[in-house]
Amino acid sequence: MNVAWCVTGAGHFLKESVEAFKHLREQGVKITTLVSKAAEEVLKMYGLSPQLKRISSGGYLEEIFLESEQGASFPKAGRFLLRKYAALVVSPATANTVAKIASGIADSLVTNAVSLAMKGGIPVFVVPTDFIFGSKDGTGVLRSKMPYIVNREVCQAWKCEHCSPREVCPQNAISEQIDLLRCDGCGRCVSACPHGAIRGGEDVEIRVRKVDAKNVLTLVTMGVHVLRSPGEISRALSHLERIY
Ligand SMILES: Cc1cc2nc3c(=O)[nH]c(=O)nc-3n(C[C@H](O)[C@H](O)[C@H](O)COP(=O)(O)O)c2cc1C
Repeated sequence: MNVAWCVTGAGHFLKESVEAFKHLREQGVKITTLVSKAAEEVLKMYGLSPQLKRISSGGYLEEIFLESEQGASFPKAGRFLLRKYAALVVSPATANTVAKIASGIADSLVTNAVSLAMKGGIPVFVVPTDFIFGSKDGTGVLRSKMPYIVNREVCQAWKCEHCSPREVCPQNAISEQIDLLRCDGCGRCVSACPHGAIRGGEDVEIRVRKVDAKNVLTLVTMGVHVLRSPGEISRALSHLERIY
């Protein structure tokens, strides 16, 4: 089975999405990975970029397409009209990408792929970050994890002769704060700081906006299959295989 996997720039469900597709690869599914510009950055911040090569090794229908390296029209999307894929999965799907799909916009790598997959009759699955299943209208509070940050209240940089995290950072990403666009999520800074001022994976609460929840419900009316979490992808695809 060939599947197209679109990654968008969300921290929420990102690690779980990578794990889900690693598992599918191990089951023999061929996966083409499409990475939005924001996803390229966010994957790096959470130290997950190197994992992509274990999912899409680079052969035909197993490529990694980075939005930052594509033309505006993404000619490879013609594959969706040629029905090269049994399904297209967007996981995680940011509120931004969900809003665009719900409005019929197709001006990015991922939204264009979704549009053409739908036009080609290929089932589309979306795992939205901003939706609370089981709540009345999809709104509510979700818990997500932050990338690496400096806790300025704990940081003693003004007292330290040398800032060890700054010295060990291979990306030169640390000054008073962490430059997340440089950080590659290696985490060496965490153990290097004698004050424990750097943390990764801190829990944050995010309130789902009404507009974002409403957009997810619009996807359902459009015939997109909305999944609760990346953990549901494998089962959804195995059901498809019986149909094909
Ligand atoms: C560390 C980090 C985590 C983010 N996590 C989320 C998220 O969980 N959900 C979301 O909707 N946006 C999240 N964003 C914001 C998106 O990256 C941003 O809206 C971007 O424009 C989305 O572009 P895309 O939909 O083309 O990938 C996050 C941004 C950063 C820097």
